[in-house]
Amino acid sequence: MNRVIYEPDFDLSVVESLEALQERVTGCARCNLRAGCTRVVFGEGNPSARLMLIGEGPGADEDRLGRPFVGKAGQLLDKILAAVGLERFTHTYIANVVKCRPPGNRAPRAEEAEQCLPWLYRQIELISPGIIVLMGSSALQFLVDSRAKITGMRGRWLVSRSGIKIMPTYHPAALLRDASKKRPVWEDFKQVKEAFSNLTGV
Ligand code: URA
Repeated sequence: MNRVIYEPDFDLSVVESLEALQERVTGCARCNLRAGCTRVVFGEGNPSARLMLIGEGPGADEDRLGRPFVGKAGQLLDKILAAVGLERFTHTYIANVVKCRPPGNRAPRAEEAEQCLPWLYRQIELISPGIIVLMGSSALQFLVDSRAKITGMRGRWLVSRSGIKIMPTYHPAALLRDASKKRPVWEDFKQVKEAFSNLTGV
């Protein structure tokens, strides 16, 4: 597959604020997802957050409201965060691998993620978090390794080339389907909170 992210016409280093980036993303039609969704879900939270959470892509509720993780999975995510003493708008910034809803909530395809990831990479650069939580297989596979399995990788820290600590864990929607995943996610978020406290003193 041709990689487009390094083409000069898609050099996002000139985009110097999240607001400017959001404006660019809102006009994006680089893949076919935009034609089938209601709106672009850019992401939200504290733009200076040291902790960034990355999911898969907007679902029906997110598509309707234009905000990430506002449906059932989002409500569970808020509870998980609260259980370790974190609050989404104060302590985190939340985004997704793809910013337009895949039809029928299917996982994003590689060619869709590939078109969308440059936006996320720039978002990460502008927010500059110290810690990223990758929630679910799509986030893990598109950002770390396409062959990685979330079951084997969750709960163990990875470090990005620029030194960001990365924690893969299950997607909150997976917990809604399988309650036995609650305990491991709780353990993962306890580790995240500890690293967050070490980083920020909070
Ligand atoms: N699932 C995701 O991966 N992202 C959302 O924003 C909502 C549900």
